[in-house]
Amino acid sequence: MTLSSAPGKVYLFGEHAVVYGEPAVPCAIERRARVGVTRRDDGKLRVQADDLSLDGFTVEYGGQTGTRPDVDVSENLIAAAMGYVDGAIEQVRDVTGEADAGFDVTIESDIPLGAGLGSSAAVVVAAIDAATRELGVTLEPDELAERAFQTEYEVQDGQASRADTFCSATGGAVRVEGDDCRSIEAPDLPIVVGFDGGAGDTGELVAGVRSLREEYGFAADTVETIGDLVRTGEDVLADGDLEELGRLMDVNHGLLSALGVSSRSLDAMVWAARNAGAYGAKLTGAGGGGCIVALDPTDETETALSYTPGCEDAFRAELAEEGVKRLE
Ligand code: PMV
Repeated sequence: MTLSSAPGKVYLFGEHAVVYGEPAVPCAIERRARVGVTRRDDGKLRVQADDLSLDGFTVEYGGQTGTRPDVDVSENLIAAAMGYVDGAIEQVRDVTGEADAGFDVTIESDIPLGAGLGSSAAVVVAAIDAATRELGVTLEPDELAERAFQTEYEVQDGQASRADTFCSATGGAVRVEGDDCRSIEAPDLPIVVGFDGGAGDTGELVAGVRSLREEYGFAADTVETIGDLVRTGEDVLADGDLEELGRLMDVNHGLLSALGVSSRSLDAMVWAARNAGAYGAKLTGAGGGGCIVALDPTDETETALSYTPGCEDAFRAELAEEGVKRLE
């Protein structure tokens, strides 16, 4: 078996605006997806996912597009796991030239699904890395990020930026603006995550911002303002001024809220963090439900979040310096 892991991420700044060419700054966190891969001789793909923060399931199918495995779990869950893994394996077959390669794939993840922490990107990055290595090919991080992006782009019908996949492949803090992805310096950030137990529908939320932006000039201005904020935020991040970083995260949350992508539980967690003395707090990712990110070097925010109605889990997350890890 070949085993790779890849981290999830939080957005310090810039989600949604990044879809329209503004810069964004995601940051990899030490919550990982681990994907183990063993080659099969019969060309089939078998996927086992025990721990995607959802009910466990095992599916086995022939690997042809359109084949639906006959198992008793929700369509969404099947689509989430199979779509991404299937797409990742297609990339592996393409890059290695082994069009008929089959695999047993085992996925374990401690990143909540669809909650703004980049769970799908982490699974795809780790799956491509492990499966290519299983066939004797080791990809450079840039190529791995590009192949993972292509997978997400196809599975998400073109609704994907390079932010999640690049960040997961390379680790650390990164800056993404269109096709231009680079690593940037970041201090050790005291990141606290609050999770409401839910998930937002990224496609729907992105479409909502798109129509608001088309309808109202001031919504288009709001998207541009997020871009201005990110450009300021990058300098503040380089200076390591956590208080100012927090203030800008607060403003970023307000702008996202104005674009309609926050929710009652996300707002409740953001306010609990602020009231507990966090430097700042905002939703992370597509919104609608899922996670917030706050900066607080003390235990206050984590404690306050754990008592906040609507918050299901609160945890501290270290910055993941390393992106993909080759474990076996
Ligand atoms: O919720 P996530 O982690 O999939 O992030 C979505 C971020 C968006 O900017 C809303 C969309 C994108 O692909 O950049």
